[in-house]
Amino acid sequence: MPTPTAPLNILLIGSGAREHALATAIARSPKLGVLYATATSNPGIAALAQPVDVPAETKQLYRLQQFCDAKKIDLVVIGPEQPLADGWADKLALGADGSRRRLVFGPSAQAAQLEADKGWAKKLMRAASIPTADARIFTDPDAADEFLNTREELHVIKAAGLAAGKGVFVPESLEESLAAVDQIMRQRAFGSAGDSIVIEERLQGREVSVFAITDGATLLMLPSCQDHKRLRDNDAGPNTGGMGAFCPADTLDDATLERIESDILIPTLDTLRRDDIPYVGVLYVGLMLTPAGPKVIEFNCRFGDPECQTIMTRLESDAIDLLTAPAAGTLDSVDVSWSPEASVCVVLAAKGYPEKPRLGDEISGVPDAAAMPGVSIFYAGAKLDAGRLVTSGGRVLSITARAPTMAEARDRAYAACAKIDFPGKTMRTDIAAAEQAPARAPR
Ligand code: AMP
Ligand code: GLY
Repeated sequence: MPTPTAPLNILLIGSGAREHALATAIARSPKLGVLYATATSNPGIAALAQPVDVPAETKQLYRLQQFCDAKKIDLVVIGPEQPLADGWADKLALGADGSRRRLVFGPSAQAAQLEADKGWAKKLMRAASIPTADARIFTDPDAADEFLNTREELHVIKAAGLAAGKGVFVPESLEESLAAVDQIMRQRAFGSAGDSIVIEERLQGREVSVFAITDGATLLMLPSCQDHKRLRDNDAGPNTGGMGAFCPADTLDDATLERIESDILIPTLDTLRRDDIPYVGVLYVGLMLTPAGPKVIEFNCRFGDPECQTIMTRLESDAIDLLTAPAAGTLDSVDVSWSPEASVCVVLAAKGYPEKPRLGDEISGVPDAAAMPGVSIFYAGAKLDAGRLVTSGGRVLSITARAPTMAEARDRAYAACAKIDFPGKTMRTDIAAAEQAPARAPR
């Protein structure tokens, strides 16, 4: 489909700080007509977008299609993995009459299986000789137990389906491995996401993420960034969706990056294309830099959260150009530029996150923090309740700051965090700390 001419009407799907950061970047574009969003209970998104007055759910997707037709939506931007896995990108590209009507940023349900079905992704990697952890796929818990009982080494155990970032276990003993199988497959802690499991070789090395925007053939690499997955300082505590991030990460030299492109990204896209599955959107690859070279830990079919907050605050060129490019086929000519500054995002989480976040705590200080130079506050699990801002989810706010150096960006982000308070406020104090984020000049 050709690029629609400005002004463009855009529908944004998703309710977190990642989507608030996307909305903020979109709202800066002079090409924007009207921005609509399905999640205007997020006060940050509500300030930038018109609400959608039909249900936004998979079962009634035709109503969202009709909404897009009526509002003459030119581009749909889908943030989270679940609607992508549920085929929203396929359906929302079409009008209610079934004709192709608009561009969508986000892969089809088939392509989104790279994230939504880890077994499928493993088979694809195996077929294309893409370096990744060796793995076995099981649909029977007894067979999985039997396999584990015969092995000496430690494994990583993963529910094959989508489990909101919680379906991965890194056990330290055979007992813990067997308990993970039990939890996923017999107790069905993640429902049908645990119908099958992937038991994989445990890789050693440094972990990095790479993000590329693609139309299935052309790749546009995004600046490197890194998140902090564990809840507490020094990478202690349980895994979370991400407690903070920084950009650029500079953990990759050019030779490694080239190897990731040529050995991993390009063969993945080529294999998909050969199966007639063009990948349109952002491909997020989690990698381990092993002594034998970079290996894939996982694919995601969306931006990382909170990585997206650090990427979008460094985007200087037009966000609408970037987000229309994959579906419009203009990736090779799109003008993209990034601020030379560094960006740091610190997540403020609710008490009890990630197991059982406490909701309803009153939040103070956001306007003061947001007024600080270089600081952007993105809302996630926060909502307005009778005029008061209260916690409504696990990750509450993404405090993001830009500055000429990483150290200054970190100091700014933490100064802004200090101005915000709520009972049970939980954060890491070592996001982008010197040993995690080298002070090299950003690129
Ligand atoms: P994921 O949700 O797939 O990103 O996995 C969560 C975390 O588990 C990753 O960030 C890694 O730290 C760890 N992990 C996943 N797979 C492996 C593996 N094969 N070897 C070592 N660590 C892994
Ligand atoms: N920050 C990790 C993720 O979005 O999956």
